Amino acid sequence: MKFNTKTIHGGQEHDKAYGAVMPPIYQTSTYAQSTPGGHKGFEYSRTHNPTRQALEKSFASIENGNYGLAFASGLAAIDAVLKLLNPGDEVVSTNDLYGGSYRLFTKVYEKFGIKFHFIGMENAANIEQYITAKTKLVWVETPTNPMMNIIDIKACSDIAKKHSVLLAVDNTFATPYLQQPLDLGADIVMHSATKYLGGHSDVIMGALVVNDKDLAERLSFIQNASGAVPGPQDSFLVLRGIKTLHVRMQRHCENGEAIANYLNGHPKIEKVYWPGFTSHPNHNIAKTQMKDFGGMVSFVTKGNNYDEAIKIVEKLKVFTLAESLGGVESLAGHPASMTHASIPKEEREKTGVVDSLIRLSVGIEDVDDLISDLKQAIG
Ligand SMILES: Cc1ncc(COP(=O)(O)O)c(C=O)c1O
Repeated sequence: MKFNTKTIHGGQEHDKAYGAVMPPIYQTSTYAQSTPGGHKGFEYSRTHNPTRQALEKSFASIENGNYGLAFASGLAAIDAVLKLLNPGDEVVSTNDLYGGSYRLFTKVYEKFGIKFHFIGMENAANIEQYITAKTKLVWVETPTNPMMNIIDIKACSDIAKKHSVLLAVDNTFATPYLQQPLDLGADIVMHSATKYLGGHSDVIMGALVVNDKDLAERLSFIQNASGAVPGPQDSFLVLRGIKTLHVRMQRHCENGEAIANYLNGHPKIEKVYWPGFTSHPNHNIAKTQMKDFGGMVSFVTKGNNYDEAIKIVEKLKVFTLAESLGGVESLAGHPASMTHASIPKEEREKTGVVDSLIRLSVGIEDVDDLISDLKQAIG
């Protein structure tokens, strides 16, 4: 199957009971047994649930992987990956990453004796000098949040393989419509399915996809043992969201490009971050590993004034000022005071998250309305 068919049919079968085309929402915690152990493959919904299982098969299908796992949030999915590690292990991570991932790494896992190296990965060769005998995981986010840095997944995978280290890629921004990290050599793909996979800003959910059976078994043990699983209603919603992922992403990309170009020509804008510009660092890698450039665009106003940036986001009317991204509706965020508030100012500024940075999740509304909205807010 091609990708645009997989989003609708990948891993899916019609309901065995009545032929329902969409998997029913199996709103049950447990399953009747005829004799102890005599059941139809489902015992308890923390371990397995038919609606969640349909979604997990869809995750695996769209990421070209063998095994999909659903979690109660993106962070719960990352948490499960970190639980593969032991005290004393080391992780080499992208430095410009989602603030919540940074918080989980530094505030939760460092105290269990796991050491993190946060480094710029725009030149993937940089990674190698941080790999020691204790390194067990390389954590990559690309495009990064919110600076849109592009990291060469294939080059990272070559290094990870050379040192027998796992490579995990947070594919939330790109989605499998744009890039499929397992095909580029990653061991684990992670998603905040809250974002583009769900696509309608109505669910919190996480996903992991892997190819290796042993790794899948270890992660599914953690999924069940730790218990951060989504319910059947949310699983249904994300499954429904995935069915239109390809058409939504196509429009997100078109609108993202139009807005990046509009902002780039605006006299009050200092800089626009969007990987589709030929001047964007690693644009050529983006062109090779991604099908298009996505719907996320960040920009900085001239003068880098905190209050001015706040005024702009307050004035927006079609764009909603809100955390999150990837829904059909356009959102605007001010990373310094919102998503990245948990990263110390000196740390965030090193990666470009300055006071006037505004991040847009460009939705699928009419692009003329989006541009008019930006025009009235920026002035
Ligand atoms: C790139 C990225 N990774 C992970 C997460 C965490 O996902 P969740 O909010 O579903 O826990 C987010 C959330 O914004 C994100 O943007």
